[in-house]
Amino acid sequence: MIDIDMLKGAPKDEPERQYYFIEKAGEIYQKKKAIKGRELTCAIITFGCQMNVRDSEKLKGILARIGYEITDSEDADFVIFNTCTVRENANNKVYGHLGRMKHLKEADPDKMIAICGCMMQEPQVIETIKSKYKFVDIVFGTHNVYKLAELYVMKSDTKETVIDIWKDTQEVVEDLPAVREFPFKSGVNIMFGCNNFCSYCIVPYVRGRERSREPEDIIAEIEALVADGVIEVMLLGQNVNSYGKTLKHPISFAELLRRIEQIDGLKRIRFMTSHPKDLSDELIEVMASSKKICRHLHLPLQSGSTEILKRMNRRYTREDYLKLVEKLKTAIPDISLTTDIIVGYPGETEQDFSDTMSICEQVRYDAAFTFIYSRRTGTPAAALKDDNSSEVINERYNRLMNKVQEISAEQASLHTGEVTDVLVETISEQNDELFTGRMSNNMLVHFKGEKSLIGSIIRVRLIECKGFYYIGEIVR
Ligand code: 5AD
Ligand code: SF4
Repeated sequence: MIDIDMLKGAPKDEPERQYYFIEKAGEIYQKKKAIKGRELTCAIITFGCQMNVRDSEKLKGILARIGYEITDSEDADFVIFNTCTVRENANNKVYGHLGRMKHLKEADPDKMIAICGCMMQEPQVIETIKSKYKFVDIVFGTHNVYKLAELYVMKSDTKETVIDIWKDTQEVVEDLPAVREFPFKSGVNIMFGCNNFCSYCIVPYVRGRERSREPEDIIAEIEALVADGVIEVMLLGQNVNSYGKTLKHPISFAELLRRIEQIDGLKRIRFMTSHPKDLSDELIEVMASSKKICRHLHLPLQSGSTEILKRMNRRYTREDYLKLVEKLKTAIPDISLTTDIIVGYPGETEQDFSDTMSICEQVRYDAAFTFIYSRRTGTPAAALKDDNSSEVINERYNRLMNKVQEISAEQASLHTGEVTDVLVETISEQNDELFTGRMSNNMLVHFKGEKSLIGSIIRVRLIECKGFYYIGEIVR
């Protein structure tokens, strides 16, 4: 039982309030530990994009401070699901996991289960959890990830599910702990939310309106990360090209990049995601002249048909997109371009689809992520009638997959024989004699090396292309 004074004594301001609750949660943790006679473990199961990966690092930071040992196993004493709802199958996966959790919780009633993230911002999901998954202990959303310790303290005083979902927020709470997946690289949020309302997309509804962080706060965070051993940052936002427009003293994304480039000790800068409609000439110039910005741009196309793009509310045409690609390739000849494409948007004709196929042939993407359109309740596209059968859509999807894979294998093989800088990241998943490094263009290369190289940038010769990755050797 918690004493109610714990809530009363809490500071009002953030992040002080959360540090207060981390301490109180730590006291609760110690009591639980004494009862169990061992340290307790916690696992965070993350679905979805880089934003969620970063949010999970923040959750891990809070849990580690409370006292938990972080593991990957769903047998842990505390399991948190950080969910995604961009497509229906993401939701289904989470319900599958929750079904399994029910049995584990029956076997061990002390086990704690929390769910957070994008899916929780949908009212019908909350209703489902309340009726079918009553055993869940804590439910929170995308806007209050930083409040985990406070919710944990509240939960310790009730048998009910603690549910805390905010519709939107203006607040950006900084300076809480995070546990990074890699010591040498980190995601850095530069903005939250999205104002674009592409007709198929649920993100603006679950991540709220666009909010940029102050450039000084971003720089300070990166400087602290660099002091802690980070050499590569991934700047994160749903639409980084509109960064800074809503700040009191507006600044462009290109200007932010210029300032980040000046940070001593930082070696590589990546960012995602770029919306083609907002990609400025200034940004292209900054990328072309930068020594630190990686030679990779993720530029979601969604469709190659101007008519579909219009109906998707993307606000560019096929020709605008091609012109932009031309400009990018002229200014930065070694740039690697990757994209996202949706197949089977309602009303997509064979002609619309063949426009998507042909634009892929023209652009020649180094990688393309292809998705079958998924109807999301609450989005404008959900109301549209769709005449295409799932057979037609699946057939188009397979045709596109084959095409983009063939092109990316050809693109990849162009680098055979080159010597390039790679950041050594891990021991290879397939073969523990090999190490895996990431090139500036985001491709992976496996090579013989030694553990001490992990976290450093080395020169590697690309010997043999294996489709979407290389086998290489270190150049000494
Ligand atoms: N159906 C299918 N794919 C979608 N995406 C976003 N919403 C949907 C949807 N409703 C894809 C887009 C986006 C990527 C992150 O997910 O291609 O760029
Ligand atoms: Fe979704 Fe479009 Fe915003 Fe991307 S830009 S998150 S696709 S609404």
